[in-house]
Amino acid sequence: MTLEAIRYRSGSLQILDQLLLPHQTVYTEIRSVDDAYRAIKAMKVRGAPAIAIVGCLSLAVELRAGAGGDDPVTFIRESLCHLTSARPTAVNMGRAARELMEHAENESMEKNSEQLRESVITWIEEMLERDVNDNKKIGNYGAQHILSGVPRDSVTILTHCNTGSLATAGYGTALGVVRSLHALGRLKRLYCTETRPYNQGARLTAYEAVAEGLPATLITDSMAALTMRERGITAVVVGADRVVANGDTANKVGTYQLAITAKHHGIPFYVAAPSTSCDLSLESGRDVVIEVRPPEEMTSINGVAIAAPGIDVWNPSFDVTPHQLITGGIITELGVFLPSELQAALTGRLTAL
Ligand code: MRU
Repeated sequence: MTLEAIRYRSGSLQILDQLLLPHQTVYTEIRSVDDAYRAIKAMKVRGAPAIAIVGCLSLAVELRAGAGGDDPVTFIRESLCHLTSARPTAVNMGRAARELMEHAENESMEKNSEQLRESVITWIEEMLERDVNDNKKIGNYGAQHILSGVPRDSVTILTHCNTGSLATAGYGTALGVVRSLHALGRLKRLYCTETRPYNQGARLTAYEAVAEGLPATLITDSMAALTMRERGITAVVVGADRVVANGDTANKVGTYQLAITAKHHGIPFYVAAPSTSCDLSLESGRDVVIEVRPPEEMTSINGVAIAAPGIDVWNPSFDVTPHQLITGGIITELGVFLPSELQAALTGRLTAL
């Protein structure tokens, strides 16, 4: 079974509603930029790369219908601004907006409105393909790096949140590494955390693992230290919402405590992310804006209250793992780098933000 989180053909976009998984498979039509904004904000689609891809594809759908009339550049600018404001921590939508705007402005010098729309649509459609290709490279680099530490053995990986087909255009980042290990016949077992409060691990990673026949075991977040001690974890591999210049990494809340625990147990800790998730304009993780989500996401599950009414709630959606704890490396489509090597490796390859 192939999981298809995003269904796109010219002029039409549907997303798999991740709020209904794993029990219902329902595709929702995205007809406009505002539909995409609301779907992203409500987490019907989530995961840093998928947010950018769905946001941009929604713009392509509107442009295909002639949006922007004689002034498509203004329409594109306003749309991208709206989309970028949906969720603040992941950098991918902001980066795509910057690059797309630059492309649109350059094209507007020599093309009429119709030609400009066509060119921007093509740029956006290529994003889908680029993301899948980059993920396959990440999978391959990550698997080889992990296996180089254990030349003959099968490996056991612990991951957090969801970083698979549902969070990207396909294949996945950290889960892509796991897929590659499985394809090589070297994955003994994947442990995935439940990922409270939103349960991306239990609902989405577990769903992908079952769908693909990966040998996988679900644990609650609070079982991670015990699992590392008792279950022979070879490496922890997680995704990223924003990797900054010194290698500090913002990712789903709970990542930081996994990195500390991995260090305690001498287990290599890897971040797997495309270069589009890197932001060299920020020097350290202190500068990353962390999204705080509504209290109800913690105090209830599927509308059923689970916390004492009236209790105060703090619900930060992400945390920052300091680069010193990323001991395995940062796996990108360009190779695996230590946090201290990242800036030099990416300089000149990324558009300034
Ligand atoms: O709040 P979410 O579900 O959008 O958070 C997702 C994560 O933190 C992922 O680990 C990250 O975006 C990487 S997705 C390839």
